[in-house]
Amino acid sequence: MKKSLGVKTYIFPQPVLIIATYDEHGQPNAMNAAWGGMADDNEIMVCLGSHKTTANLAINKACTIAIGDIKNVTACDYVGITSANNTPDKFTKTGWTTTKSAFVNAPIINELPLTLECSLIKIVDGLKYFFRIENVSADESILTDGKVDLNKFQPICFEPAEHSYRALGAKVGQAFSEGRKLNYDK
Ligand SMILES: Cc1cc2nc3c(=O)[nH]c(=O)nc-3n(C[C@H](O)[C@H](O)[C@H](O)COP(=O)(O)O)c2cc1C
Repeated sequence: MKKSLGVKTYIFPQPVLIIATYDEHGQPNAMNAAWGGMADDNEIMVCLGSHKTTANLAINKACTIAIGDIKNVTACDYVGITSANNTPDKFTKTGWTTTKSAFVNAPIINELPLTLECSLIKIVDGLKYFFRIENVSADESILTDGKVDLNKFQPICFEPAEHSYRALGAKVGQAFSEGRKLNYDK
């Protein structure tokens, strides 16, 4: 028997996207965003309220979006509960360092191993931010044969029921393949 839970943001899991921008002085900032995902082959949509990050996006029209990982869970949460509007040295407190992206005017956080370098395409209804992926950069340490290897990279995800961060679990099947077991037409 199923029970109605009402309207909840219950997509399990949600990503932990760390959005990094430069401010008006060229100083890096970062925030955490879980309300986002793929919007097209090369586009991402993230729902953003009003933050220092969105003020920075208005200036530079660019950001990087890194995937939070287990090693960085404390800093990933910190940038989601502290605003650079109130804590000017917010980014310094993370201990993270940055390198300017070669593709967009935004900082890459060196300590996060997987980063999407993005340009802002449009804002819909004041809060749906659409970004084009201009490049993806990854630490060699998380790659096998040029592909991201989840035996080496440990992303975290946001779990909306009890607001926890979770590691990904074991591989349980091969996409675009597992379902062939039910294909009796071939
Ligand atoms: C787990 C988590 C997920 C979040 N997801 C979003 C989100 O999707 N959109 C958003 O606008 N804020 C989100 N936030 C809140 C921002 O990260 C937060 O307001 C942050 O302080 C903004 O920083 P800034 O003002 O320095 O840019 C999230 C925070 C946490 C901890």
